Amino acid sequence: CGIVGYIGKRDVAPLLLEGLQRLEYRGYDSAGIAIHAGGAGKAAGLKTAKAKGRVRELESRLPKRFAGTTGIAHTRWATHGAPTDENAHPHQDVTGKVAVVHNGIIDNAAELRARLTADGVEFASETDTEVLAHLIGRSKAEKLEEKVRDALRHIEGTYGIAVLHADFTDRIVVARNGSPVVLGIGEHEMFVSSDVAALVSHTRQVVTLDDGEMATLKADDYRTYTTEGSRTTATPETVEYAAESYDLGGHDTYMHKEISEQADAVDRALRGRIDDRFSTVHLGGLNLDAREARGVRRVKILGCGTSYHAGQIGAQMIEELARIPSDAEPASEFRYRNPVVDPDTLYVAVSQSGETYDVLAAVQELKRKGARVLGLVNVVGSAIARETDGGIYVHAGPEVCVVSTKCFTNMVVSFALLALHLGRIRDLSVADGKRIIEGLRKLPGQIDEILKSEEDIKKLAKQYADAKSMMFIGRVRGYPVAREASLKLKEVSYIHAEAYPASELKHGPLALIEPAMPTVAIVPDDDLLEKNRAALEEIKARHGRILAVAHQEQEKADHTIVVPKNEPELDPILMGIPLQLLAYHTALALGRDIDKPRNLAKSVTVE
Ligand code: G6P
Repeated sequence: CGIVGYIGKRDVAPLLLEGLQRLEYRGYDSAGIAIHAGGAGKAAGLKTAKAKGRVRELESRLPKRFAGTTGIAHTRWATHGAPTDENAHPHQDVTGKVAVVHNGIIDNAAELRARLTADGVEFASETDTEVLAHLIGRSKAEKLEEKVRDALRHIEGTYGIAVLHADFTDRIVVARNGSPVVLGIGEHEMFVSSDVAALVSHTRQVVTLDDGEMATLKADDYRTYTTEGSRTTATPETVEYAAESYDLGGHDTYMHKEISEQADAVDRALRGRIDDRFSTVHLGGLNLDAREARGVRRVKILGCGTSYHAGQIGAQMIEELARIPSDAEPASEFRYRNPVVDPDTLYVAVSQSGETYDVLAAVQELKRKGARVLGLVNVVGSAIARETDGGIYVHAGPEVCVVSTKCFTNMVVSFALLALHLGRIRDLSVADGKRIIEGLRKLPGQIDEILKSEEDIKKLAKQYADAKSMMFIGRVRGYPVAREASLKLKEVSYIHAEAYPASELKHGPLALIEPAMPTVAIVPDDDLLEKNRAALEEIKARHGRILAVAHQEQEKADHTIVVPKNEPELDPILMGIPLQLLAYHTALALGRDIDKPRNLAKSVTVE
């Protein structure tokens, strides 16, 4: 979900709506806004507007007179309670004096709600957040900061909140615990958001709150303090990417823009890191010296969704290049199975946003048990980046489309760097190190070459868009590529897709193969080429249609997308890229809402 707030001199509603639009990728089933209406007597107080649906829905519903210079707003991804007008944020207390927007989950909401209801409070929504509004409203404390603090004392769970109070027209109070809150520092105006994306068009000076921190924003200043009330120091930092990086830049969708940017993104991930003298890479933030790296006996990679798939490819790379047993697991599964935490295992948490709750919680559990955890993260300064002992920033740049493309590619490239680094400390030869470095350097050019075949892929997408279901297969290095391609297709086009190791086909899924169920096969020119060809034969014998992604035309396939060859260990980086375009053009042909697929959100900060 997304929070945005403003206090200053400008007309606040248009500013907040623009901010919400920039945050829509974080949740888009309802939106709302609350402002200080100004004036005195009866006219004073808060005004709110809320609407189910997209931000433009909210915009069309704003009352004519909705002027003010201080306000907060929210775009929601439903957790507690269906997406309805009532459940949209901001939530208010019974007097209507308090308005709260909230990201995160209040774990003891049911209990608090029961207690408040028994006390005669009537609830207007089904959300956990409303509890907070009532608690703030009922606090007898004098200052708004204290009222908020009083309320938070009752709360168990995670939150990033922004609060307006009709009696305190000169301020917005915000607090963070587990869900990001970033202050944007302007001239005679202050902004707040859950995400820098909503701030950068106004200011690049930001202060990121820590967990357990609160802040008071006034037009001319701000102060930060802990939830216990002691002052903290906050030095503004400059946001890395300029406002244009968050814009569409001439593309119709962010997905298309982000797919197209991949050569540059990979170039950024490599920049300044290659060490030709020792045929290795420098990873400045890794915080793992050679002796420690030699002591690693296992690598365990944890992530969710696309990042988990990047981790699967990463695990194979580390195993191949560094010869350390490695695997990847969904962070959520790992957390809940009481895993054996071994001091000689290196844990790597992989996340685009650096906020995904399941990943963060896994990191915290690991740290509590004394494990060594690295982060492989895109968003600089995010929660996972801060919680981990060191790591690698993947430098993909801002990714706005809900489905991940360029960040996935950069994650895999970053894993290749980690694998090379660990390999060269252990047993990878100089010659092999050199070979991998040459391969890495070739990637940006090869990516651009693949992107040139977009028109051909578009034609193919039209031919396959009528499928009700699709099979994706690959072996070893190709299998996680198939899994990610299958996820991409289903997320964005809503076509059902399954991924299987090609070798497993004959153990069950072959029963599904018929002309109506096409197969996408990953067929690299590696040791397994003949085995992969055999799988294509099996499918053809059942009259299945085949689209191969390969280094050379595949005779058994109906269509082949030929991609340039790199080093075998790095081939997975390239083989997925045409399939991002396939997913994109399939979704386009089907008229889908590409940047905001139904039911999904970019960052899942809840369990
Ligand atoms: C959500 C997104 C996915 C993403 C996953 C992990 O489910 O819809 O696209 O892969 O979260 O996100 P992260 O930010 O941790 O990489």
